[in-house]
Amino acid sequence: MSKTLRKAVFPVGGLGTRFLPATKSMPKEMLPVVDKPLIQYAVEEAAAAGIEEFIFVTGRGKAAIEDHFDYSYELQDTLIRRDKTEALEELNRWMPKAGKVMYTRQQEPLGLGHAVWCARHLVGDEPFAVLLADDLVLSQTPCLKQMVDVYDRQGGNVVAVMDVPLEHTKRYGILDVGSDDGKLAEVRGLVEKPDPKDAPSTLSIIGRYILQADVFDHLETRSLGAGGEIQLTDAMARMIGAGPFFGLRFEGTRFDCGDKVGFLHANLAFALERDDMKDGVRKVIDAYSR
Ligand code: UTP
Repeated sequence: MSKTLRKAVFPVGGLGTRFLPATKSMPKEMLPVVDKPLIQYAVEEAAAAGIEEFIFVTGRGKAAIEDHFDYSYELQDTLIRRDKTEALEELNRWMPKAGKVMYTRQQEPLGLGHAVWCARHLVGDEPFAVLLADDLVLSQTPCLKQMVDVYDRQGGNVVAVMDVPLEHTKRYGILDVGSDDGKLAEVRGLVEKPDPKDAPSTLSIIGRYILQADVFDHLETRSLGAGGEIQLTDAMARMIGAGPFFGLRFEGTRFDCGDKVGFLHANLAFALERDDMKDGVRKVIDAYSR
C-alpha cells in the first residue's frame, strides 16, 4: 500500500517579473482572485485533499505570505468587539493549525526544481504534493483531491495534465505518453519546454504534483535545464521506470494566473460562480461585448 500523503510544498520563491510593478514589493501569490489571495486558494485545495502539513518555500519580500497564515490580533479583537461573528469564523476556518505551517527560504531563485529541493529536510522520507499557487483550478472536486484518489489506487508519482495548443508546448513540461485510457496517461518520458516540432505530445503538466521523496536525490545533482534553471521536470524524468507514474487529465478549468490575461480570466470566472456577484459581473461583460 502506498504511504499516505500528508505534506504539501508551496514554492513561492519566484520573482513574478511578468506582473511588475504589482510584484515589486508584494508577492505574486498574494494577488487576489476576486477577494482571496492565490496562495489561500492553493492552501484550501491542499487541506481539502487531506494535507496536514504546509511547507512554504519563500524568498526575499515574501513576508506578507507568512503574515497571511498567522493570527492578526488587532483584526480578531476588533471583530469580536463589533460582534462580527461570521467574519471571525470565516477568518478562522482556513487557518492551518498551530505548528502545521513551515517556512524555509530559497536564497536565490534558481528554478522550480531548486525551490522544491530546498524543502527536502521538512518533507523527509515521505511522498508529498507540490502546488503552484499561480495555477488556479476551478472544478467540482478540488484538483489535488482528484490526484490523491489516483495516488491512493496506483501509488508512485502523479501529475495533473491538460492538452495545450501545439504552439504552447514551449511553456510547459510535456509528456511522452505510454498507455492511455483518456483520463490517466502513463508517463513514458518528460521534456521541459520543447519546441513544438520536438514535442512528444501536447499533454502538458500544470502546477500540481504528487511525488515520491526519491525526487530529492535527483535534484541533488543541481544540473541546469531549460532556461538555465534547475528544473523539476528533469528530476521527475529520471524517476520514470522506478515505479508507477501517471498524468491525470483532471476535471475542471485551469487558469494561468502568472499571466495577466489568465489572471483577469480567473477573476471573471470565479466572480461568475458567486451568487453575490454574478449578475453585476454579467452586466459589465455585456456592456463591453456590445
Ligand atoms: P514562474 O515560472 O511563474 O516564475 O514560476 P516566477 O518568477 O514566479 O514568475 P515570472 O515568470 O518571473 O513572472 C512558477 C512557480 O514556481 C515558483 C514561483 O513562485 C511560481 O509559483 N518558483 C519559480 C520558485 O519558487 N522559485 C524559483 O526559482 C522559480
